[in-house]
Amino acid sequence: MSCSINLKNISYETSTKEVFKDVTLNVSHEEKVAIVGSNGSGKSSLLKILAGLIPPKEGEIFLFHDKMNSKKDFRAYRGDIGYLPQDVSDHFLCPTVIEDVMFALRAKGVKKDEAYENSIKMLEELGILHLENRNIYDLSGGEQKIVALAGILITKPKIILLDEPTNALDEDAEIRIINILNSIKKSMVIVSHHKTFIEKLTPTIYKLKNNGLEKIS
Ligand SMILES: Nc1ncnc2c1ncn2[C@@H]1O[C@H](COP(=O)(O)OP(=O)(O)OP(=O)(O)O)[C@@H](O)[C@H]1O
Ligand SMILES: [Mg+2]
Repeated sequence: MSCSINLKNISYETSTKEVFKDVTLNVSHEEKVAIVGSNGSGKSSLLKILAGLIPPKEGEIFLFHDKMNSKKDFRAYRGDIGYLPQDVSDHFLCPTVIEDVMFALRAKGVKKDEAYENSIKMLEELGILHLENRNIYDLSGGEQKIVALAGILITKPKIILLDEPTNALDEDAEIRIINILNSIKKSMVIVSHHKTFIEKLTPTIYKLKNNGLEKIS
């Protein structure tokens, strides 16, 4: 199987306890997998490990069959990974919504007009065009989460890691996000407590336990 992500026997511990061990996971190029689990089971930590933000205690991580031994190895794939944190309050780099969504495209060398047009399209698709010129720090938690998602999806990353994308969203926003995520054929790992949301995205669901991932569907 040609995979974007392979995790082999990953374990993780904090300064005070072992959180999980023996996490093994393969995600192929267009596959979406969901991860559920109790509060504190380590779902967010696992996504941070996958994004190269924190190291595991043990185990091996391969991105596109390339072994990641350090943060430096992850740097080569920075443009390929889109990571939505559970808490997006520290995530933004620009003051206004449109500037922030355009930022990643501009950083990739996309011309201003094209970056603006694409960003407007993305805001429209996510139902947040009315927020275009708003200051991000004046937005609600749910609004901030959708803006962060817009900034991630617009760069078309090959691997998309989403930590509770709908935890603060209303029903309409959730439906728009389901539609847009279903239209994206990329590797996706979605962490969520929201069963009906997950089931509309993927049949492949794992539960994170302290001794590994259990496939529950
Ligand atoms: N920076 C940190 N320092 C110490 N312990 C931490 C740190 N970050 C997380 N932990 C601990 O690691 C464990 C796993 O946390 P994590 O946030 O990954 O869980 P989670 O499954 O995402 O939980 P939730 O469903 O509440 O989001 C928890 O016991 C948490 O207290
Ligand atoms: Mg979490």
